[in-house]
Amino acid sequence: MAETIRTVDPNEGSRLTEIGQLTALAYLADGLVDQAHPYIPQLKDAHLRAQEAELLMMADGEDGSGAVVGTITLVPPGSSLAELAQGDEYELRMLAVSPIERGRGIGAKLTQAAMDMAVSRGASRIVLSTMETMHVAHRLYERMGFQRREDLDWTVIDNDDGTVQRLSKADAERAEQSGSAIHLLGYSWEP
Ligand SMILES: CC(C)(COP(=O)(O)OP(=O)(O)OC[C@H]1O[C@@H](n2cnc3c(N)ncnc32)[C@H](O)[C@@H]1OP(=O)(O)O)[C@@H](O)C(=O)NCCC(=O)NCCS
Repeated sequence: MAETIRTVDPNEGSRLTEIGQLTALAYLADGLVDQAHPYIPQLKDAHLRAQEAELLMMADGEDGSGAVVGTITLVPPGSSLAELAQGDEYELRMLAVSPIERGRGIGAKLTQAAMDMAVSRGASRIVLSTMETMHVAHRLYERMGFQRREDLDWTVIDNDDGTVQRLSKADAERAEQSGSAIHLLGYSWEP
């Protein structure tokens, strides 16, 4: 089946709703978060991603008019959505593929499209974070040439409003032992 990848504008209301739902569903389906998790509203907020970054979607059909099957966000330097990126680094966030479309290379194609866009804008490095349990994503990023960067790992606790609070190394060890924190794994790629 033909598919099209394109960026989505902040004024494409129904598409943004569809992409937000798909992103949350992809994370829920893998048990990465539950319905009550404070990250769910952020996963659903595709409008913010379209506004503050480059929101990419893949949709069915040669003209891209079919259902959304996957999405990724390319965060440019200086965006409010940058979590790990420093200086002029670009960041990839919220890669998500519909649970019924997995294993067809959609995740890889979306990642490649975002990498190509970053390179076309002169990016010298792209970084991203994953949860420890995202084993499919780890293999995918490594296949695409991303390097595992332990020095970029970071630890967070969730705030009730969906934002996260970054912990210092000393606090992180304590919080991880008590199970109240999430350890995120860093990756980077250079053209
Ligand atoms: C990670 C994710 C985007 C991958 O999407 P995808 O389109 O299935 O990715 P690809 O098809 O390019 O590669 C998926 C891998 O799963 C394998 N696979 C095959 N059938 C599969 C199926 N039915 N379901 C899941 N994976 C399958 C593929 O062969 C490939 O395996 P490999 O890594 O061992 O070579 C998707 O699983 C997802 O949305 N996960 C939840 C959110 C997430 O973890 N996001 C990462 C954010 S950092």
